[in-house]
Amino acid sequence: MSETALILAAGMGTRMKSRLAKVLHPVLGWPMVRHAVAACQGAGLSVRVVVNHQEDAVRAALADCGVAFTRQPEPRGTGHAVLSALADLPAEGTLLVLPGDAPLLRTETLLALRAAHRGQAVTCLSVVLADGAEYGRIVRDDGPLRIVEAAELSPPRRAALREVNTGVYAFDLAFLHAAVPTLRPHPPKGEVYLTDLLELAWAEGRAAVVVHDGDPAEVMGVNDRWALSQAEAALGLRLKQRWALAGVSFQDPAGTRVEVEVSLAPDVTIGPGCVLGRGTVLEEGVVVGPHCVLSDCRVGAGAEILAHSVVDGATVAAGAHVGPFARLRPGARLEEGARVGNFVEVKAAVLERGAKVNHLSYVGDARVGAGANVGAGTITCNYDGVRKHRTDIGAGAFIGSNTALVAPVSVGDGAIVGAGSVVVQDVPADALALARGQQVNKPGMARRIRARNEELAGKRG
Ligand code: UD1
Ligand code: CA
Repeated sequence: MSETALILAAGMGTRMKSRLAKVLHPVLGWPMVRHAVAACQGAGLSVRVVVNHQEDAVRAALADCGVAFTRQPEPRGTGHAVLSALADLPAEGTLLVLPGDAPLLRTETLLALRAAHRGQAVTCLSVVLADGAEYGRIVRDDGPLRIVEAAELSPPRRAALREVNTGVYAFDLAFLHAAVPTLRPHPPKGEVYLTDLLELAWAEGRAAVVVHDGDPAEVMGVNDRWALSQAEAALGLRLKQRWALAGVSFQDPAGTRVEVEVSLAPDVTIGPGCVLGRGTVLEEGVVVGPHCVLSDCRVGAGAEILAHSVVDGATVAAGAHVGPFARLRPGARLEEGARVGNFVEVKAAVLERGAKVNHLSYVGDARVGAGANVGAGTITCNYDGVRKHRTDIGAGAFIGSNTALVAPVSVGDGAIVGAGSVVVQDVPADALALARGQQVNKPGMARRIRARNEELAGKRG
């Protein structure tokens, strides 16, 4: 049977000053608590999460993660959170406990703590910081080995103690079952502190504190929005470094955001100011120009996404071209060699091989056949105010500029639609459709109008 990790995620997170529970605040595309879950699962641990505040939303955010939940009846401190879960935990063995607000924690660090734990009752993970801020302090120099919360220390003592509690521990479960019910609330808030267990274990000669010697950012606890932004920056740096070492070029790494669940192949190039959101998959050699926003999309080998394009829920095949200033919405699919140019929006539509929509168009709920050319300013009028309808454009068709295709409508293979047409009837294959007012030329009329205007201006002047 696998060992268990308990993630404490029932707190309000008052310092976030938010309607949203702290552990649900997103960190690079995942709710914060999900990062802790992933780190534990990476270590092969089965995970139980303690919930209370916005319990339903926390459960929903982790619904597909395969974790178990315990309800803390009310958030009365980290010790009380573990007390609430005791009945759901194994009677013996080892338990790792983590806060839900440490999104940078890595699997490797959990495994190292687990390995260091051996026969202790409590092994606490600490870190040495230049400024320990609000963290609980490890006190080794006077009396028992223990953790004292920052608020309970005088300012000089707080400044002098630089080794802090990360809130990550390994426990002997038999000890935990015996000791947690003996914890007493701390005035003035009446919270029960999990940290008090260190001193109890020390009294039995079974307490250890191991110092995290990696990047201190990894064990940071996110208590407020500033720490949240720093956590995103630090995790982003880690992800970008990993992709860069795997063969991806970032032209401006600091100005680029890369979220979780992104996959980038070697020789991908990312221009400055891009956002690669969760679910972005870029195959080998894809070039993304400056200031593009991508999410939940797949872009095939060698395709180009030029500057200022937005791609969400779309598939772009190898060798296709998108942008600059293009918008691909969910259900857009570009086949090999298709082109979508500036100020073009595509939604729930397929552009077959080599089809082109190069300028100022809206293509929604449509098929554009292979090699078809859709002229500048063409609109598929897919919505009648109640329902959406489809437009079908055949292979090799040519749609003149500024055409309105009033769906449902189809244009057959090889047909031509004259510029400025409003197409309300199907166009047969190879036909020419003209659906616009007849042009009338009146010889000399412009000159006569001008003369008349000048005469009128002369009378007034
Ligand atoms: C805690 C530690 C502190 C440590 C710091 C590390 C205590 C008393 N203090 O302080 O020593 O330096 O973490 O980041 O443990 N939670 C519950 N139920 C509750 C209260 C909290 O599940 O009743 C959860 C929160 O949702 C959060 C985690 O426990 O994910 C930690 O709580 P938080 O209030 O952030 O503790 P800190 O004040 O940061
Ligand atoms: Ca915290």
